[in-house]
Order: sequence, then C-alpha cells, then structure tokens
Amino acid sequence: MEKPEHHIFVCASFRADGDPKGVCHKKGSVALLPYIENEILDRGLNAQITSTGCMKACDYGPVMVIQPQGLWYGNVASEDIVDDILDALEDGAVVEDRLIK
Ligand code: FES
Repeated sequence: MEKPEHHIFVCASFRADGDPKGVCHKKGSVALLPYIENEILDRGLNAQITSTGCMKACDYGPVMVIQPQGLWYGNVASEDIVDDILDALEDGAVVEDRLIK
C-alpha cells in the first residue's frame, strides 16, 4: 500500500456510542465529503480523506485537519472554503484566517 502524502480528516461528529452529536455534521461537514473527494481526484492530489468522530473543537466546526502538516481548519462550511484550503495545500501555503490556533 502506498501511503498518501496528505491525509485530510473531516469531522463527522460521531461520539463513542456511534451517534453524531456535535456541531460539524449539523453544519454540513458530511455533505462536503464527496466534493472534497472529487477535488482531490481532479487536482491529482496524493491525499486521502477520512471522516472522523468529534475532534473536540466543536466551537470551530465544521473542522478539517490536514496531516502531516498538523493544520486544523475551522468553519469549513462551503465548497469555496474547501477550494481555498486545497489551493493553499497545493501551493504549500496555509489559509491563515481559517486556522484554529
Ligand atoms: S463535532 Fe466536530 S469537533 Fe466536535
């Protein structure tokens, strides 16, 4: 198996009992997953996307984390914002005003 260069985690709000109870899925994080997947393919990014349980940053939801860079983005609630983040990833840059610090 070839490991991806980037691993993009998108919070889907799941908790230990399996129910999504947090903020991110209510603000559309899960609905963005197919768009992000398509963008990864269209851009030819060597990246994998994974939906996750609550990342304990609900105040900033929807939350997206990019590894290995360790970038935590908040309020990722639209395709335009995803585009900005992926543009920055391709350029080796960061969308500063979306970072959770
Ligand atoms: S539900 Fe996404 S960080 Fe808590």
